[in-house]
Amino acid sequence: MSYLGEPARERRGMDEPTLEQLQRGWRQKLQSLKRSGIRSLPAINSQPSDPEIVEPEAGDTAITREGASGVSQQEQLRVISEEVAACQSCPELVSNRSQTVFGVGNPNARLCFMGEAPGADEDVQGIPFVGRAGKLLTQIIEACGMSRDDIYILNTLKCRPPGNRNPTPEEANNCAGFLARQLDVINPDFICCLGAVAAQNLLDTSEAIGRLRGRFHDLDGRQVLCTYHPAYLLRNPSAKGDVWKDLQFLLKEMGLPIPPKK
Ligand code: URA
Repeated sequence: MSYLGEPARERRGMDEPTLEQLQRGWRQKLQSLKRSGIRSLPAINSQPSDPEIVEPEAGDTAITREGASGVSQQEQLRVISEEVAACQSCPELVSNRSQTVFGVGNPNARLCFMGEAPGADEDVQGIPFVGRAGKLLTQIIEACGMSRDDIYILNTLKCRPPGNRNPTPEEANNCAGFLARQLDVINPDFICCLGAVAAQNLLDTSEAIGRLRGRFHDLDGRQVLCTYHPAYLLRNPSAKGDVWKDLQFLLKEMGLPIPPKK
């Protein structure tokens, strides 16, 4: 089984992952289940009386990433997004926004892309990364052999800062609780931070983006990779090679095949 879903792989006609990639992927999947509180898995093709089999303990759920209440991830995200839409914590953002921009994609994604904040286009459409930088991000995702439906895209801030200025520390702080809950529901194994604002806020560091690149940062068992923001690539196309290197590194760690360059 592919980690992005078999149909997506078939659609793209890619090479099958190697055994090593599959093993790495399954190891990460098990870590992710452990983070969700799952301590045992039902055995396949075994008799319940087999002494080797550890029966799930009371309170354990099946292999699913639904919350203990059984409320689906989609539903949990909808509840948080309604709270976000009603949020009045940052008066300047509230008075300037057309709407909040919560996030989009697969609520069960193994990989989240995290940006800075909505821009003008996102503020109008209510969807992250739909402007020029967003179109480049879509191309980057597709170059990785994925689609926007395979992954989840979210931002540090859910409101557009006026004039696209950087979020203030107070604004980022006000939004941090929503982001943390959003990530807890999606429970991705990997987060790719796009640009310094996302990387520095998520990792709580002031280190420059150039120095944060090139290695995985552990965040509560999640692997965080930092790369340049697509808006930076629009201004500095020569940095595209660096981003492609970062993403190849990410795909390898995810146990996914690296599509040939077109
Ligand atoms: N830039 C971001 O960081 N996020 C968006 O949603 C759009 C542009």
